[in-house]
Amino acid sequence: MHFSLVTLFPEFFASPLQCGLMGKACQESLVSFATINPREFTEDRHRSVDDRPYGGGPGMVMMCDPLRRALHSIPRRGRTLLLSPKGRPFDQTLARELAEEEALTLICGRYEGIDARIESLEAIEPVSVGDYVLNGGETGALCIIEAVARLLPSFMGKTDSATEESFSTGLLEYPHYTRPETYEGLQVPQVLLSGDHARIARWRREKALETTLAYRPELLRNASLSAADKHCLQALPRQWRGRNLYVGLLHHPVLTKSGEVGTTSLTNLDIHDIGRVSRSYGLGGYYLATPLADQRELAHRLLDHWRQGAGCQTNADRASALADVHVVTDLEAIRDNILQRTGQPPLVLATSAQGQETVRLEEVRTALEHRPVLLVFGTGSGLADEALAQTDGLLPPLRFLSTYNHLSVRSAAAIYIDRVLQDWY
Ligand SMILES: C[S@@+](CC[C@H](N)C(=O)[O-])C[C@H]1O[C@@H](n2cnc3c(N)ncnc32)[C@H](O)[C@@H]1O
Repeated sequence: MHFSLVTLFPEFFASPLQCGLMGKACQESLVSFATINPREFTEDRHRSVDDRPYGGGPGMVMMCDPLRRALHSIPRRGRTLLLSPKGRPFDQTLARELAEEEALTLICGRYEGIDARIESLEAIEPVSVGDYVLNGGETGALCIIEAVARLLPSFMGKTDSATEESFSTGLLEYPHYTRPETYEGLQVPQVLLSGDHARIARWRREKALETTLAYRPELLRNASLSAADKHCLQALPRQWRGRNLYVGLLHHPVLTKSGEVGTTSLTNLDIHDIGRVSRSYGLGGYYLATPLADQRELAHRLLDHWRQGAGCQTNADRASALADVHVVTDLEAIRDNILQRTGQPPLVLATSAQGQETVRLEEVRTALEHRPVLLVFGTGSGLADEALAQTDGLLPPLRFLSTYNHLSVRSAAAIYIDRVLQDWY
């Protein structure tokens, strides 16, 4: 494979491309490299490749012309990638795709970036190596070169090496061990000494699943998992991320349709649907709060029907979904109940179709690692100001750019719970 590197700093690549397996691959002509410096394609006395940005602002911008001339000088361009933070995230799937090519050209930006017109004038694919900003595209280009080249047949000694690595099957890799057998009192797992290749392969698969679940659970969504893999994942001991998450549904003080503060009636669907979501996501509990005694009594009758009455005999799943639904008077009672159960006061977060968020979803996930978090939902037209005032923060509204966002409270609860927890068990 031939790589053309368009860069203002050709010397940057000298050492990394000569080291280790890459150096060997170069010697064996498995890979070859050419650097092309846009500065060589300038015509002015100062050999300028950049200029000040139109519209003002800091930094300089790389000009189109020297860069285009540099590109046009390349005899075998192949797919042409522009290193750019806005580009397609570079991952193992893209690495595999690029490893099929015979030639690749990598354009390394510098300064504030490149005149945007280059993308209209040349067939260029922007690619990012991560959500952070580097000084230039050279470091990212090295990542791409290395990840792609090592997938070429015969780059690595054993062809199996690349097929068993992290991401190759959508999972992270299993742990490795080498001599000595016991180190600082730590033993190599016995199975690896057994010589039983089938058992070793099974153990490695299980460890890959375990490692992925522990470090990057979101990868599991796109991994190809067999029935045995799913069974193994379900059996793994783990702390459910949702165990610290609680939901509270307030029927007072909420806004009525006319915008006044009032009290709403219970909705049977809210009891069932939020209960089922709460159970599916392994939440700590679901609280229904109403100050009206007859409404609480009604809630208890409905719950009793499904938990121990006739409903339980026909639909045992529903009894399980409603097992952790609690009926209380108000937000204060929810807070007290969680404090009693967990020994910690919950972080109380309001949800609203409007309003400026004060807490980001990432912060909720972090809080869930060490303390209970209560998401409070308002029935009617949402939580009244006096309810909002009792909370510790406001989550971002759902569909904040939509001109219509009148979701039912049970839909909103399901979406918020999923946004916080997703399938990251
Ligand atoms: C200082 S950066 C310019 C950042 C740009 N002003 C911005 O805010 O997106 C200079 C060059 O580094 C490269 N670069 C920086 N971060 C990158 C990343 N995460 N992925 C790919 N290339 C990157 C690009 O080629 C970019 O043109």
